[in-house]
Amino acid sequence: MRKIVIAIDGFSACGKSSTAKEVASQLGYSYIDSGAMYRAVTLYFHQNYVTIDNPKEVSKAIDEINISFNFNERKAFSETYLNGLNVEGEIRKMYISEQVSRISAIPEVRKNMVSQQRKLGKKKGVVMDGRDIGSNVFPDAELKIFMKADLTVRAERRQAELLEKDQLIPIPEIEKNLVARDKMDSEREENPLIIPDDAYIVDTSELTLPEQVEYVLQLATEKM
Ligand code: C5P
Repeated sequence: MRKIVIAIDGFSACGKSSTAKEVASQLGYSYIDSGAMYRAVTLYFHQNYVTIDNPKEVSKAIDEINISFNFNERKAFSETYLNGLNVEGEIRKMYISEQVSRISAIPEVRKNMVSQQRKLGKKKGVVMDGRDIGSNVFPDAELKIFMKADLTVRAERRQAELLEKDQLIPIPEIEKNLVARDKMDSEREENPLIIPDDAYIVDTSELTLPEQVEYVLQLATEKM
């Protein structure tokens, strides 16, 4: 069987990462969370007071950033490292979610991240989730999935995830963030969130995680 690239895009909090990790784990593929890369950049910019409308300052900051992942294939568990430090917990916090779409829209940031993502997927055998993976990072990906779900369902799932990390965020606040991010991600100039023509659209509102995984695995097997 040949190794393929599986691109999973979609709106915020539709279950992309959970599905992608499990699919990668079951196929023995690597998993790349492209959203975590933009979140790590956002954390770095926040910590270092980078002025985002100064392209020179932005480019200098990007050069100082090294992002890596530790994907535990057996446990389907991924951790993000920023300059050697585990930032997995920090990048999921609300203050990062509130800034990330502004940072990810900066052309210098996108150019750099997209180039890193292409390198990470060059050898195939990769599942990558994000917003522009099937449309821009890997337009030739053998399998493209686009996920969507009802807003309330998404907010409830995200609230449960945050609660597991001891963060209690009210549903309206989460919904506001999801709507704002979807809008900014869809309307930005560079690599906006779009549905690729050749993507399989999956509405996860009434699907369980095992059902989502099963569906993607079935499609993947057909493409191998
Ligand atoms: O996937 P996650 O919700 O963690 O992504 C956080 C943010 O990163 C998105 O809202 C979007 O602004 C940005 N992003 C992006 N392109 C990707 C993945 C994420 O612009 N491929």
